[in-house]
Amino acid sequence: MDCSVKIELRQPVTEQDFQLYYDLRWRILREPWTRARESGQDEHEQNAFHIMAWQDGALLVGVGRLHYNSPEEAQIRYMAVEKAYARRGIGSLILRELEANARSHGARRIVLNAREEAIPFYKTHNYQLLGQTSTLFDSLVHWRMAKEL
Ligand SMILES: CC(C)(COP(=O)(O)OP(=O)(O)OC[C@H]1O[C@@H](n2cnc3c(N)ncnc32)[C@H](O)[C@@H]1OP(=O)(O)O)[C@@H](O)C(=O)NCCC(=O)NCCS
Repeated sequence: MDCSVKIELRQPVTEQDFQLYYDLRWRILREPWTRARESGQDEHEQNAFHIMAWQDGALLVGVGRLHYNSPEEAQIRYMAVEKAYARRGIGSLILRELEANARSHGARRIVLNAREEAIPFYKTHNYQLLGQTSTLFDSLVHWRMAKEL
């Protein structure tokens, strides 16, 4: 990563934070397939742990979310980094923050459903590939991955 760029992680707080947060998530993960903005949210939003990555405190460049399926099992969803900022370590910073939250709550395992192109990223972080799972928009195959904490 360019050393002059400072990335700060924080949780969204204000209504404007959440607007920017959901907007980035939607643009990266949904817009290429659907204009329906509601498709980028689910029933766990209220109780989930949300993280935003800001460049120099001013520009939102990445987001990620963790929720709990049970006290032992956390799930990561909606990881998204701005395309122009990919491969600079931002996704890794977000992922580590989500994992730290899961550990601090006593979770034993993290699961997620990865798109094919995101598998190498999660493998780098020691997630195991378990097998094919859901398909989104009739074309985006997802792969179940998991990591023991
Ligand atoms: C997947 C995603 C979150 C990764 O974020 P990122 O900031 O680009 O990832 P990082 O820079 O932290 O990558 C860390 C390491 O993971 C691996 N990696 C990441 N993206 C990769 C890719 N496309 N191909 C191969 N390896 C990859 C590399 O080992 C990389 O280290 P390196 O760049 O030093 O080689 C991001 O690319 C993204 O938002 N993709 C589109 C949306 C998406 O697929 N989200 C996941 C939904 S399941």
